[in-house]
Amino acid sequence: MTDFVQLDPNDGVVVSISDDRNELVAAECRVLTGVDPVQGIAAGGSTAHIGRAAYQQFGLQVLASAPDLQSLCEQAAALQAMEGFQVSVIAQASSGVQRRTWALTVADAIQAKPNLDQPSHRLVLIQAAGHHVLGEIVTQPDRSYRQHDQKPQRTSASLSSRLARALVNLVPVAAKTILDPCCGSGALVLEAHAIGLQVFCGDINANMVQKTTENLAHFNYACGVQLQDARAWQEPVDAIVTDLPYGKYSRVADEVVLGIFAQAVALAPMGVFVAGMDLSAQMLAAGYAQVEVFAVPKAKGFQRYVHRGSRAPIGEFR
Ligand SMILES: C[S@@+](CC[C@H](N)C(=O)[O-])C[C@H]1O[C@@H](n2cnc3c(N)ncnc32)[C@H](O)[C@@H]1O
Repeated sequence: MTDFVQLDPNDGVVVSISDDRNELVAAECRVLTGVDPVQGIAAGGSTAHIGRAAYQQFGLQVLASAPDLQSLCEQAAALQAMEGFQVSVIAQASSGVQRRTWALTVADAIQAKPNLDQPSHRLVLIQAAGHHVLGEIVTQPDRSYRQHDQKPQRTSASLSSRLARALVNLVPVAAKTILDPCCGSGALVLEAHAIGLQVFCGDINANMVQKTTENLAHFNYACGVQLQDARAWQEPVDAIVTDLPYGKYSRVADEVVLGIFAQAVALAPMGVFVAGMDLSAQMLAAGYAQVEVFAVPKAKGFQRYVHRGSRAPIGEFR
């Protein structure tokens, strides 16, 4: 992992949205960039998968890196072909006035004309850990999950499309197939499809099978939906991602959830499960070697618990 202060030109940097309450932001960043973010900045991370992100802002290519602003400006002055640039600033605990002053200082050093309305080079100055990095935005999320907010069928238990995208993004980028065996109206299924995964899905409730089928057809996604108990699935896949019937209105007996875990461990090396409480002990009992839990705040002080279980140490999947 590259330290922020050791970044070199051409290194990648990914900036997450600033929502310190949401542990999923950092978890998604780790999977998509391959590095641990520090205060929302993944230094040296890959920018290749940011297009599909739910909670990342953009990926940068480093242009200049220096311990002080003056040295950074000397490097900025040597940059070529920056016509129509714009500079914004990320610096924690700084005022708007300070950020504007720094942006102007860097802009003055660059040997080209700025264009704030329609910039052709969007530059970002990051100040962190007493160091300065100037990068150019090379990639941003396509926000394709937003179209799924218009799905024709939903229930009160439906996940938002953005959260569903983040959950699918907890699966290693190398995964090709996933299964959602408790698909409800299909929020996770739509996101997995949109990022190009082969999806298997089903629900024990025929109404839900109908809803997901209709939602998939609305977006022209080709995928069958099985009327099936999650414990009966036999399809081996790269990962299971599912929102368990463990909420206020859809709670089932504990043995059912344990049965779902046991089948999931048998079918896939990794499982991502959402529930209204911490079920990590039950997942370990079902056979996962390692379980991570990410708390995701809901409205009115409620929490969701996102679990990622792995049959092998999690590090092997990043
Ligand atoms: C929390 S909801 C899923 C909501 C879904 N993520 C969405 O966005 O609509 C849980 C789903 O699990 C289904 N379910 C309950 N027991 C099941 C079982 N044994 N096998 C398969 N599905 C089951 C319920 O019918 C329900 O649709």
